[in-house]
Amino acid sequence: MIIGIPNEIIKDENRVAIVPVGVEELTLAGHIVLIEKGAGLGTGISDAAFQNVGAVIVETAGEIYRRAECIIKVKEPQSAEYDLLKENQILFCYLHLAANERLTRELLKRKVTALAYETVQDEQGGLPLLTPMSEVAGRMSIQEGAKCLEKPAGGKGILLGGVTGVKSATVVILGGGIVGTNAAKVAAGLGANVAIMDTNHTRLRYLEDVMPKNVMTLASHRHNIRDAVREADLVVAAALHRGERAPSLIPASLLKQMKPGSAIVDVAIDQGGCCETSRPTTHSQPAYIVDEVVHYCVTNMPGAVAGTSTYALTNVTLPYVYKLANKGLRESLRQDTSLRKGLNLINGRCTLKPIAEQYQLSYAPPEDLL
Ligand SMILES: NC(=O)c1ccc[n+]([C@@H]2O[C@H](COP(=O)([O-])OP(=O)(O)OC[C@H]3O[C@@H](n4cnc5c(N)ncnc54)[C@H](O)[C@@H]3O)[C@@H](O)[C@H]2O)c1
Repeated sequence: MIIGIPNEIIKDENRVAIVPVGVEELTLAGHIVLIEKGAGLGTGISDAAFQNVGAVIVETAGEIYRRAECIIKVKEPQSAEYDLLKENQILFCYLHLAANERLTRELLKRKVTALAYETVQDEQGGLPLLTPMSEVAGRMSIQEGAKCLEKPAGGKGILLGGVTGVKSATVVILGGGIVGTNAAKVAAGLGANVAIMDTNHTRLRYLEDVMPKNVMTLASHRHNIRDAVREADLVVAAALHRGERAPSLIPASLLKQMKPGSAIVDVAIDQGGCCETSRPTTHSQPAYIVDEVVHYCVTNMPGAVAGTSTYALTNVTLPYVYKLANKGLRESLRQDTSLRKGLNLINGRCTLKPIAEQYQLSYAPPEDLL
């Protein structure tokens, strides 16, 4: 198979979708790996490092898309890339279609075979290709939130952990999944008073068992959210319904009741965000203020720490890439139920029910199309 790795063009994105070990394994198995010139530089991987293990370095993204049967990326294609995609080309990357109707329709129109990292699901119901980036974003959410609480950023000017004789900040985390758990661990380690909220009581029971004493678990419903958010200095929003748009948990009316100088890190912004006043931002201008509350809404948080994130991501994506390359699309999707859950679109049809419902598209179960 000819596999193409373009440069990531979304602003401030430094990750790359493959590392030399992946290139080496694929080329040894007889596949051709095309990499756009300079694609690894943000992670500290030179073109020579890729070439030494068999990659072909290609000058332009246009050539990558023209020659490759399968495009492996990190983030979803940007509008400048839509016209480069070809019919039946396999696209394997984060897609987050629930937050992007235009992308959904462009991929359908072009009959691209779109596999989304974030909907690949293992037998235990875990999201193996989202998890490592959620670990990164969860841990980062507290360091970024701490900066938002500093005075120059528009925050109230407090330290998360307080100091001797001065109280710590209150951190409220909406969603106790991978992002939320990692955020809670870091916030607790800094000495903040943490509340972590989820609708899933089994998950809350687990968190109650493993979290330190300064982390309280709370059932997530309108009443508790309202009370907790009003009292919070920092809110981390990380609730997810698989494949769907993020649940709306902080309406504009609740935002108005938050304390001036408090902050929201809406990690779920890639699925549309949990806060009504959230809109996507970039690492260059990560935060803005509404009603005296600092909002941090970067859609590609792990892109800022590519030296960690690229390796964490490719550790988990590469086994799926090998399978796709070695067995071909249809056979690997037939054999691997986890990867099959990653199939969102094929041949102009939508195979992910929540997306079909959200955009009123006709739904086709993947099994019917393979
Ligand atoms: N911005 C970024 O750079 C970035 C990076 C990684 C992940 N994310 C996003 O972060 C979000 C969370 O990812 P995750 O891996 O932690 O998902 P996850 O599935 O592990 O956890 C989501 C949790 O939300 C809970 N939940 C659902 N509805 C809720 C509600 N109404 N109130 C409280 N909790 C609720 C679920 O029960 C689950 O425990 C996703 O949208 C993901 O795409 C963003």
